Amino acid sequence: MGRHDSLYWLEACQSYYASDAYNWPARPTAPGVKTTYRSIEGTFDILPGSASPVTRSEAWCHVEERIRAVMQRFAFAEIRTPVLEPLDLIARGVGELTDIVTKEMFSFERGSTNYVLRPEMTAPVMRAYLQHHLDQRPGEQRLFYMGPCFRAERPQKGRYRQFHQFGAEIIGSTDARADAEIIACTVEIYSALGLGSTLLRINTLGDAESRPRYIQALRAYFEPFSQELSATSQGRLKSNPLRILDTKLEHEAALVQSAPRLMDFVDPDSRAHYEAVKVLLAEVGVPFVEDPFLVRGLDYYSRTAFELESPEIGAQSALAGGGRYDLLSVSVGSRKPVPAVGFAAGMERLLLALEAADAPWPDTLPPTVFLIGLGESAEKAVFGLALRLRQAGLRATHGLRSRSMKAQMRTAHRVGAGYCVIVGDEELASGYAQVKEMTQGVQETVPFDVLPRYLLSHRT
Ligand code: HAM
Repeated sequence: MGRHDSLYWLEACQSYYASDAYNWPARPTAPGVKTTYRSIEGTFDILPGSASPVTRSEAWCHVEERIRAVMQRFAFAEIRTPVLEPLDLIARGVGELTDIVTKEMFSFERGSTNYVLRPEMTAPVMRAYLQHHLDQRPGEQRLFYMGPCFRAERPQKGRYRQFHQFGAEIIGSTDARADAEIIACTVEIYSALGLGSTLLRINTLGDAESRPRYIQALRAYFEPFSQELSATSQGRLKSNPLRILDTKLEHEAALVQSAPRLMDFVDPDSRAHYEAVKVLLAEVGVPFVEDPFLVRGLDYYSRTAFELESPEIGAQSALAGGGRYDLLSVSVGSRKPVPAVGFAAGMERLLLALEAADAPWPDTLPPTVFLIGLGESAEKAVFGLALRLRQAGLRATHGLRSRSMKAQMRTAHRVGAGYCVIVGDEELASGYAQVKEMTQGVQETVPFDVLPRYLLSHRT
């Protein structure tokens, strides 16, 4: 470790801190090295006015608002859980052998605790449900969420290391109507945003015994072909043959087509449940295709599994996924199973799909009023005046550098202000401000105390 290493610096700071010194040492920089920082690969900043909706804060606000509106119409209430969770919760909940747990977790140890930056929200929501005894509240719990998740995947378009999920869970019901409602809600969010051309694939995974029986049959089927499989699939054959079904390699996909079908291993009750879900979806006009090889990448599912795709967003086409997870509660420590079903969706992929569909979103509104104070006393007065205008409900701003009237006018034009309010020593003495309407250039003199009313009645 060199003298200019970040860890060296951090350790130096920590030992200073531990020894009660108040001044941390200045961070050493290598001679001649200019340090500039960039966001970490696979993460990005969301800014006002960005060209792409994926990085444009106005698009995020617009979409979040629409999602909340749909969630509220489905009577879901918001739950917010911490970004940090115990590693064990995710390992047990999502499954020790899943890609998420074996390869993709951002985890670290501190003291005697192992932490993970949550890679998904279902296990955390179940933890919160059990921790706060939400089963004691009346009826099923209908919860929705939005927030950042973290997976150490290889970054590419639509696949990030920090991404954002929104989703919903109905906890406490075994009824097929809960499954159908979750699926209908998923589809509804996309159509409310004008994305009608999504593809819904559904399947049933059966009960807790169906899956091991199926895994055994898959292993027996693929074993004779093991020499033809890629190294990845050979590994999966040992650890989790279900993952071979997701292969993107053509010759493996051909093998998958003749592989045993999960449905042949599914118990009768799960089949009846699946039939009921399909009938409900058909009744409310939600189109779907059945995909006998859809197994999902997380271990907690039983019975219903589904995915929603957009053909328009390229390789990472899964917009959303979900299903029933009646045994997750037991994996994370509950004595009795808590039936539940839910979905989660990637916000970035939704925004990519909206971009592909050329969907419009509102821009941030420009300020109604730009205030210009000329001279020290006028600047102070303008500061107070801006607050009063805001309290009256106007969008008001002012320059925070003392500059000439001409320079400030130019800024007002650039930010798209509707009006300029100009105050100099003369205006301060008379109690009247100059108000300039920016499109026509018409200027009027307005008493300070009438300004809020004047601007409210004139604004467009
Ligand atoms: P998931 O399929 O792992 O399911 O993730 C749901 C969605 O999150 C994906 O369809 C995708 O849109 C988005 N997503 C996942 N990973 C990334 C990534 N690295 N970059 C960008 N977007 C990503 C779950 O997480 C389950 N918890 C869903 C669920 C809820 N099941 C029941 N309730």
